[in-house]
Amino acid sequence: MAAPRRRLHGKNAIITGAAGGIGLETTILFAREGANVLMADISVPALEKAIAKVKEVVPTAPRLEIIKCDVSKEADIQAMVESQDSWGGTDVIFNNAGIMHADDADAVDTPEKIWDMTQNINVKGVWFGCKHAVLSMRRHKKTKGSIINTASVVALVGSATPQLAYTASKGAVLAMTRELAIAHAREGLRFNALCPAPLNTPLLQDWLGDDQPKRHRREVHFPTGRFGEAIEQAQAVVFLASDESSFVNGTDFVVDGGMTRAYVTPEGPATVAPQNQGH
Ligand SMILES: NC(=O)c1ccc[n+]([C@@H]2O[C@H](COP(=O)([O-])OP(=O)(O)OC[C@H]3O[C@@H](n4cnc5c(N)ncnc54)[C@H](O)[C@@H]3O)[C@@H](O)[C@H]2O)c1
Repeated sequence: MAAPRRRLHGKNAIITGAAGGIGLETTILFAREGANVLMADISVPALEKAIAKVKEVVPTAPRLEIIKCDVSKEADIQAMVESQDSWGGTDVIFNNAGIMHADDADAVDTPEKIWDMTQNINVKGVWFGCKHAVLSMRRHKKTKGSIINTASVVALVGSATPQLAYTASKGAVLAMTRELAIAHAREGLRFNALCPAPLNTPLLQDWLGDDQPKRHRREVHFPTGRFGEAIEQAQAVVFLASDESSFVNGTDFVVDGGMTRAYVTPEGPATVAPQNQGH
């Protein structure tokens, strides 16, 4: 990778779902860009593995710590955000943790308990993260702050392979983020929603497994002929977290290789993907 430009120098950041996928790649890029990062996840063993990886890849990382947090529990989120008070308060939070449950299905077959679990983590978790970030930023008299919430392209385009609870949850993240952006704009707090396309992360790839037709059904919709990589999302999050995006607020920030802009996609070999740093 190119030499770091320290675009996040001195910023205190929290990343949820930091043990894998987008969260881990974002932690690596944030650390390279000079941010102090609190890595949060529900899985402590996964966090321990992830922080070791970040330290290996970014030996110059400034402050880097882990914390167990189930984002669906407000007390966990509050403790996570308040633990950064001694760092000088939170400047950036990336509310990224989310689930897509294997039993999530269509209008008829989605179990109610899967619906509730999905909304609790994907929607309420993001709300709690936003709430406690706002309280922290006020407590520390921050004149600017960046909150990035992970939604999905399924909040923008419909799919004939539905996962209704997941899609509904991501639509809620988009609407909530937009409203918060407007409500807090005069406080200097920016809220943007990241909309990733399907990616090569465990969340999707474990679910697709070796089922080639299931995979192809999705891959064909990409103009580039491939799924996205977590690092391609992380690059966008660095921009949204940094002061470079000071006039970017309330957006549905789509990082999808053109998937949601396509009708008929090209044929031929797929483009070459960048390498993730965490694997
Ligand atoms: N992978 C995709 O194709 C894709 C596409 C669009 C959006 N997204 C979204 O991106 C975000 C990150 O996904 P990813 O692909 O990196 O997935 P991932 O499964 O690799 O990582 C998600 C992380 O969240 C953690 N997590 C799960 N439940 C949690 C909870 N209750 N509290 C705290 N942490 C919890 C997991 O332990 C895991 O480390 C999710 O919100 C997901 O919905 C993913």
